[in-house]
Amino acid sequence: MQTIKLLVYRYNPETAEEPFMQSYEAPFSGPGMMLLDALNYIKWNLDGTLTFRRSCREGVCGSDGMNINGVNGLACIVPVAGLKQPIKVRPLPSQSVIRDLIVDMEHFFDQYRLIKPWLQAKTPTPERERLQTPEERARLDGLYECILCACCSTSCPSYWWNGDRFLGPASLLQSARWLADSRDEAMGERLDALDDEFKTFRCHQIMNCLEACPKKLNPTAAIGNIKRRLLSRKS
Ligand code: SF4
Ligand code: SF4
Ligand code: FES
Repeated sequence: MQTIKLLVYRYNPETAEEPFMQSYEAPFSGPGMMLLDALNYIKWNLDGTLTFRRSCREGVCGSDGMNINGVNGLACIVPVAGLKQPIKVRPLPSQSVIRDLIVDMEHFFDQYRLIKPWLQAKTPTPERERLQTPEERARLDGLYECILCACCSTSCPSYWWNGDRFLGPASLLQSARWLADSRDEAMGERLDALDDEFKTFRCHQIMNCLEACPKKLNPTAAIGNIKRRLLSRKS
């Protein structure tokens, strides 16, 4: 039987043990086998203590972001067949680890809350929905699809070094999504909040985020768009 070899990061803060990489082997079930299938096999058949987040298994919930052979991705949509073995699986970089492959996402979601990710409108709510033309709706394409997996932010060197103050590509892409929404009436306030040397301008266009995004979104371009809006207000 063909098998695949993995080296998986292990850490349990309840023991005195230092983090280490643990070897596992799982049966290869064919070209459709994803990394999550291998991790599930390990958890359900070999070692129930291995801990990781997952839910949808379809690249939709964003919960199984991890570092796979040095590249951030969603375990459920990364085929094992294309990975060099032993497959090295680590938690998302630069985040504090709660256990094994689970990182603390609290700060990431605090930053998301900070950008007020909801429709802000001062005009009275219409009886039916707030309408958009097809062109206005199309402006949200490439932005609304973000699943907040954090693969981009945790691959960004600026975020590693200044994650306490730099909002990071995920929250900035979400900001761009609300700035692009024709129904939103808080553009001025949103731009005021983003006009900050650290929050926005710590992006140095290194573009790691673009390569890391499993949804093929372009946070670099979204951040560039915000910067242009901010700079055009000053000229
Ligand atoms: S383009 Fe900006 S946000 Fe993306 S990885 Fe580079 S510095 Fe970070
Ligand atoms: S932009 Fe892409 S990588 Fe970043 S959080 Fe959204 S879906 Fe994940
Ligand atoms: S399990 Fe939901 S995105 Fe992978």
